[in-house]
Parts: sequence; structure tokens; C-alpha cells
Amino acid sequence: MELYERIPNNVNLSQDKRLQRALEKWLPSYLDWWREMGPEGFQDKDVYLRTAVDVDAEGWANFDFVKMPDYRWGIFLKPAEADARVGFGDNFGMPAYQEVPGEFRNSLRRIIVTQGDTEPASVEQQRELGKTCPSLYDLRNLFQVNVEEGRHLWAMVYLLHGYFGRDGRDEADALLERRSGNPDKPRILEAFNQPCDDWLNFFCFTMFTDRDGKYQLAALAESGFEPLARTCQFMLTEEAHHLFVGETGVGRVVKRTAQLMKESLNNDVRALGGIPLDIMQKYINFWFSYSLDLFGGEISSNSADFFAAGLKGRYKERDQYKDHIAAEGSFMLTVVEDGKLVPREVPLRNALNEVLRGEYVKDCERAMTRWNKYLREEGADAQLYLPSTRFHRHVGEFAGHHFDVQGNLTGKEAFEQSESQWLPTIEDREYVRSLMHPVTEPGQIANWIAPPTTGIKGKPFEFEYVRL
Ligand SMILES: [Fe+2]
Ligand SMILES: [Fe+2]
Repeated sequence: MELYERIPNNVNLSQDKRLQRALEKWLPSYLDWWREMGPEGFQDKDVYLRTAVDVDAEGWANFDFVKMPDYRWGIFLKPAEADARVGFGDNFGMPAYQEVPGEFRNSLRRIIVTQGDTEPASVEQQRELGKTCPSLYDLRNLFQVNVEEGRHLWAMVYLLHGYFGRDGRDEADALLERRSGNPDKPRILEAFNQPCDDWLNFFCFTMFTDRDGKYQLAALAESGFEPLARTCQFMLTEEAHHLFVGETGVGRVVKRTAQLMKESLNNDVRALGGIPLDIMQKYINFWFSYSLDLFGGEISSNSADFFAAGLKGRYKERDQYKDHIAAEGSFMLTVVEDGKLVPREVPLRNALNEVLRGEYVKDCERAMTRWNKYLREEGADAQLYLPSTRFHRHVGEFAGHHFDVQGNLTGKEAFEQSESQWLPTIEDREYVRSLMHPVTEPGQIANWIAPPTTGIKGKPFEFEYVRL
């Protein structure tokens, strides 16, 4: 453990002078990026943050006040397993790859760059949110997510610098040059170019889009390329909090809306300054559908190649499956053919994006059930739902077709006629934005959201999580 080095790490960086020098050269560029694109207006404030200091299940993090630019972004990998093996695909059972196998070099670099690109992108998307925080507790959580996404960028840049030589270094530089939403140099994946400029967006983003990250990381956490697997295993530890922020964040808005529905005489929560359920449903439809796209096409030769190579497995590959070769099975999909939905059988390996997406959808349904429970507890009849996985897709078999939220094919015109009932309109977004006023007194909270049930690390909600 090299905790007090310029770049804290548990990979013996000081033993590898070349790599250390390369990363120390990248560090100032990273800090420039953070100052330019990180949380706007709070760089000199003390924030109660957790910092990774170890990789044990117990005591891996330290909680203390720190100014964000002084955050100790480090490189932490889970310890190597003795005698690690490739866990799936054509090389199942062979020794895990400690170096990048030449024939998989391009695939691996692409996987790492795509994952890496999402990390700074989300920080950029969220950079203005601090100014309208609903409470100091939420403000702190936003910054926690932001600094950890910064660390995840470090995790991927370490792999690029450490294992891909010259082109890895170029890719690491490019990760600091693309900008979320910039038409000239956009981020790679579309969900990461969408504006995330109000807190309902933020909670939906951390609920749905970060959750895609969980499944991608989980699939890579069993990769046959061992450094990638060990990096992702530790990233998942941090990621859990981001998902918590999203799921409980949306849940608290739902709870508050349900309370306001009860208080209002005619279910008009707008009059009481709340966010109506139908707007919430539209935000869910928006972020859920964009996040589904992140899993890639339903039928994908890339997914087959990545699996065959032992690079990217299924969710819980080791524990959940017996056949780790998966060369024989098939998978039934629904596709569009001649303007109709029809079943199609494809080789299992070509359907692995869809298999992973299915795991993700189950997880989202679980959260949905919990939110709906809040509604029932407050006596509301209405329920939230997930739209069909075919709705509003821009990638894969359903892109270019139009579906209603139930997943029925509709024409373009019918879709456009109903679009304002399914996806946030400009007016919806403006209404939500009109509620976003900063609440920065310790213990106070905005009217449109319920307080959390507990604080952070045993501290009460009233704790001054950010010293302004
Ligand atoms: Fe991340
Ligand atoms: Fe995250």
C-alpha cells in the first residue's frame, strides 16, 4: 500500500518508474480538467467525503472533511487471486491474462476506453447541480459521486498507461478532451451527452445510468484480463453508494409527492410545490430507455467475441451459470420484421448484451416495487412503472421504429402525437427547474423531496456535511 505517494496506490507504482512518471505527467492534466469541468462553485469548500485507502471489505474508506481538488484520487485493485483462470469463453480454464493478448488488444482497449469515458462524462453532466442542492446531505452525496467517478477514470487510465503503451497514453489524453454534450467532441455514449441539470435528472441518472455501470463492471469484474477484473471489483464497492443515492433519491421524491397528494384537495401537487407523478414517470421513461441503449444491440457479434475471448462475461458468471462456454445454447428474442414483432432465435453468445440487459431490468423492477410501496403507504392509488424495453430506443433492434410505452409498434406520427405524455417536455423540465432552489441550512430540506431516513456514516441528517 502506497498511501502517501503523489498517486496513492496498491499496485507498487514506485517500483515501475516509467509508469509512475507517465501517470504523474497525466495528473496535472487531470487536475486541470477537474477544475474546469468538476463541480462548479464549491472547489474551495470542505466536504465530508469518503476516500478509498484500502481494498478490504472492512475499513476500506476514510471519512473526513476535504476540499475536492485535494481529494486523494488513487489506484486500487482487489488483491490478485492465486492461480487465477479465465472464467468463460473459448479459453475457459487457461491461466488468466496478465498482459494484453495481442489478438484481443483492440477489443480490450475499446472496452476500457468506453468504460473510462463514462466516468468524467458524468462529472461534466452534473457540474452545475451543486448550486441548487435540496440539502447539505444531498450536496455531499453529489460530490461523493463526482470524486469517485474521477477515481474511476484513474482506474481506467492506469490500465491504458500500464498495458497499452503509446496508444494507451493517447487514449488517456483523449479522455480529458471529450466533453459531455459538446457536438464537436462528444462523449462516446449518448446517455452521457444528455443534460443532467436538475436534481430529478440526477437521481434518475444515478438510479438508471449508474446502474448500467454496475452491470458492465460486474461483467468485467470476472474478465480473463486480470488487471481489469481486479480494478472493476473494487470500483463496484464504490459504485454501490452511487446506486443508493439514485434509488433513495427518487424514492424520497416519490414519498414527498405522495404526502403532498394526500395534503392537497384535488391531487394538485404543483400548487403545493411538489413534483407530479406524471412528470416523474416521464423522467423514468427517459433515463430508463437511454440506459437500456448502453447495453448495446440485442444481437451482437461484439458480445460474442468479447465472451469467446474471455474478456467480458455474464452477470455473476461464476456463481450463476454452470456452462461457461455457452457455445451451444440459443436465445429467443423479439425483433421487428416487415413492420411486425416476431420471435427470432439467435446463438446465445450473440445475445449476451440482451442477457445482461435482462438482469438490469430485473434490478430496476425491484426498485420500482419499493417506490410503489411508498405510494401505497401514503394512500395514493397511482403507481409508477417501467416502460417496455422497446420504447424510445436508439440502439439495437428497436432503434428506428416507434413503440408506445407498452411496447406496441406505432407509427412515427402516432408516436409524435403521444410523445409529450411519455417523455419530459420543455414545460415539464422548466417546471422541475423552477423548484430547484438551494437549501443549505444544516437540517433543512427542499419542499419537493422527503429527508433521508439516516445520515452518512452514523452522522445525523442535520450534520453540516458541507461547510459553505
Ligand atoms: Fe463510475
Ligand atoms: Fe457511479
